[in-house]
This record gives sequence, C-alpha cells and structure tokens, in this order.
Amino acid sequence: MRFKGIVIIEFNRELPKEVIERLAEIIEELNNKVLVKGVRNVEEASKIINYKAIENKLQLEIEAGRQVRIHNAALRVKNHLARTLGPKYRLGIRNILLVNARIELEGEYKVSLKLPFVKNLEFKNGLTIVYLDTISESELKKPYIDRLLKLLREKEVRAKWGGKAEHWELIKESKIKLTPPPYTEDPNKVLEEIGFIKRFAIGQWFYTPAFTYFINMAKHFLLEEVVKPLGFVEAIFPKMYPLEVGLKTGHLKGTINAMVFASLPISYDISVYEELIDYMYVTDSIPPEELQKYVKPPSYFLCFAQCEPFYQFFSREVLEDKNLPIKMYDHSGPSFRWEAGGLHGVERVIEFHRVEIVWLGKPQQVIEIRNKLLEGYEYLMDKVFDLEWRWAWVTPWYYEQAGIVEKEEERKLDINRPGTIDFEAWLPYRGPREERKNWLEIGNISIHGTKFTEPFKIKHNKGETLWTACSGFGTERWVISFLAQHGFDPENWPEKPRKYLEEHPFPEPVRGVTYPKTAKGRELLEKIIGFYKK
Ligand code: SER
Ligand code: ZN
Repeated sequence: MRFKGIVIIEFNRELPKEVIERLAEIIEELNNKVLVKGVRNVEEASKIINYKAIENKLQLEIEAGRQVRIHNAALRVKNHLARTLGPKYRLGIRNILLVNARIELEGEYKVSLKLPFVKNLEFKNGLTIVYLDTISESELKKPYIDRLLKLLREKEVRAKWGGKAEHWELIKESKIKLTPPPYTEDPNKVLEEIGFIKRFAIGQWFYTPAFTYFINMAKHFLLEEVVKPLGFVEAIFPKMYPLEVGLKTGHLKGTINAMVFASLPISYDISVYEELIDYMYVTDSIPPEELQKYVKPPSYFLCFAQCEPFYQFFSREVLEDKNLPIKMYDHSGPSFRWEAGGLHGVERVIEFHRVEIVWLGKPQQVIEIRNKLLEGYEYLMDKVFDLEWRWAWVTPWYYEQAGIVEKEEERKLDINRPGTIDFEAWLPYRGPREERKNWLEIGNISIHGTKFTEPFKIKHNKGETLWTACSGFGTERWVISFLAQHGFDPENWPEKPRKYLEEHPFPEPVRGVTYPKTAKGRELLEKIIGFYKK
C-alpha cells in the first residue's frame, strides 16, 4: 500500500525570499527528521519528493508508506513549519489541503464509491488506485481517513492471505482411545428417531425432557467441575442486541452474513394492523412481504457470540486493581447463527445453546485464567467424558499484529497472546479420524487482547491495559460428541456420566400413538430407555 498526493500549505503572506532560498534545507530537515520520526522501516515513512513555492503557497508532493500516512504527514509538516518559520518570519499558516491524493493497493479490489473521500477507482498493472477528493485540514484530523486506510489495508491483507486455507495449527491432542470405534451410529439420527428431539423449523429443534437431560449433564460437569471452582459466577445476559453493539464488537463487519436480525412493530396501536389482521382471518396466511410493511427496519441482532453484553456492560466503566479480574458465565438462552447449508441434526443448527464464559482483567490475569480453564477443559475431555479430542490454534497470524507482518517461517507459536484455540472432537460416524472433516468443533477459548476494551472504552483507573477473553462451550455439540464416541448404552460410558445417571433420575420420554414416528423408532426408544430406567 502506497500513498501519493500534494500537500498545499497556504501562508498568510507571500513566502519571504530567505525562506525560498532555504527551502531545500527545510525540505531535507522535514524528510530526515520530521517525517521519519518513530518509524521503524524508513521505506514505510513519508517523503517529500518534489516541492514548489508559489506566492503564499508551498506545494509539497509527498509519497508515503504505511507507517506515516500521508494525512499524518501533512499535519506533521504543518506543525513543524508553524513552529520553525512562524515566529522567525512572522509567517502564519492559514490553511492546508491535501489534493490529488491517491492510494495504491496491490491487487484488484472493489471499493465503494459511496465512501467518504473516495472519488474514483482505477485498475492498472495489478494495482488498484483509489483517488481521493481534496481533503481539508479539519477533515485530515477526523478519523474517517484513518478508518478508510485501515479498511483498504485489511482488504489487501485479506486478499493476500485469505485465499489460503483457513489457519489451523494443532497444539494438543488426546491419545487414540477408540480403536476400533465401539459406536459408529449418527446420534443425531438416533435422537430424532426415538423422539428425544423433534424438528421445529429449519435449523431449530424442540428438545424433549430426555434430550434436555443430556444437555444438563454436559453443563453440569462443565459448571461444577471447571467453571465454578475457578471462581466464575453466573449472570444473565440479554439475548437481543442493539446494532451499535455489533458495530463495536466488529461482528457486523465480519459476520453479517450469518446474523439474524430483529425488527420492532411500527406501532403499538392495534388498529394500524387492521388490514393485515383481516387478511389473516380470511386467508389463514401471513405473507412475509405483507408483514414487512408493519415492522420497522431491523434495529437488533439476536445473540450471536453471547459475550457481547459483557463488554457493553463495562463500556465506559473505570476499574481498579481490587475489582479485577472479573469472571462471569451465562447460559440463559440460545445463540443464533444462520447457516446457508450443511445443517445437520443438533450438530449444526441455526438456534443453539452454549455456556459462554467471559473474563476481564490485566493481561497476566487474563492469560492465567485462560490457562487454568484449559487445564479444566482437558480434565473434562479426558477424565469426565473420555473423548478423543484435539486443540488447534486458529488465529491467522497475519491478522494478529496490524502493521507488523512476520514471515511465516520466522514465527514461533506463542499461545499466551491474543488468539483463539478451537476444541474438536472426533465423530466416528462420519469416518476415519485422519480426515479433518470427521471432527467437530465443540468449543473455543479466546484471548481478545484489547479488541473489545478499546472500542467499548473499558478503563483501568491508573491507565493500565485491560484485556478480555471468552470461551464458548457448545452444549449440543459436547452431547453429540459424547454419544457419537460412546453410544447410548451407559454400560459403555465413562464413570462420571454413569454415576450422574444413577444420581439423577432420567425423565419419561414422550410417547404417543403417532410418536415417535416410525415403528422402528418406537422399538429403539424402548430399548434405549431401558438402559436409563434400570
Ligand atoms: N463468543 C465466542 C464465539 O462466538 C465464544 O463462544 O466464538
Ligand atoms: Zn465470546
């Protein structure tokens, strides 16, 4: 990414001869001192490559790399000249303008012409050239330019690396335990067949008390053996979020394609809806296109990452050492993720359940808690559920530190920094463990660094850095992995779940003349329920 443009500095009077004679020297000073200040790689700094004095104006042609952006360069030049020339020659600076500015990006990109300052686009020799409108001093100081540059840079980085396979680096795995796998059925199919779950709508299920029993068992071990002993305390987070929250977390920019939105009605006055109500009376239908006329544009999105409200809660709050760290968990309701395809049983759904664990503290505290949680998860996977599991670092390293792009081979994985670890379990019913597609992501754990404390302005009273982290436990997926690896018969379960079954009576399944649907399902139900009702 390179910038080019002309900075015009307008003085209150014609430039004195002495200044014009000294121009070469002034420019050299600007180039060698002012514009490279604080820049590690001089190639990336700004440089004045041409200059001209015309009456009361100084025109500087500037080229810049990533580190001193041209708009910053313009302001630096102005401040320097005001300080050095101002008092000596009684020169005041009336105005600065950035004209004919353009940004060159490697590769071809779509950039919206509706964006502020973007005048035109051109593709040439594998470059995208973004031409900008004239930018005034007050506009140079606004954050739009910075954000525009950040956007363009991200487009470039994403195109350069995003095309590659998604980042996935194994960091730990269990022993091979299931050879040959003792159970190879798809538990999703069995659960539906025996009526423990029933389809509700696309990607949504009704969980009968019997399936809810498994959900509660999975949560029980997580909460009682890992989360509560580490001092996390239960809270109830909202499940419908105003759009501004998603703008700050970044989800609206990153995952808008998978989010579900909610709209409020246009009026509380029921008479407003009379026509629509009449229509429903007579036709017994509700065309969504008609309904759309009676709702406002969406102003909420449904619970997506589940931790968003935590950051919103602490937004603009100031915390001191004795308040930290803060540890909460929420399992008060579902999350929604719209999937275009690939829905499968309760394993990949639109409405799912998760225990979301969130914490906030100083970096060292956040890392320590994450590491304790990792130990807890390992215990849960190995000792409680006896799963075949593995963990992977899934943060693309080129996104980790904006601006500093390390070379892949020079880099050593350090998990004590911002990034995400995914937890996966093998699903024998899908096929051999050697193939990536036969594993299911059951949860994750992330250190966010300041990704949320910055936009939400979560502050420490002495200005120390605060970090957040979160971990999601995908409840349905833990249940499916457990059943997929050990089956429904508790004879084959590890000790802790078997004991849980002894101590917690299993509910009666739902039975009806037509439920479960098939004779085979009804027969299988009796066999399976026999295991739990001994
Ligand atoms: N909130 C995190 C996520 O959405 C962890 O659940 O991935
Ligand atoms: Zn989260």
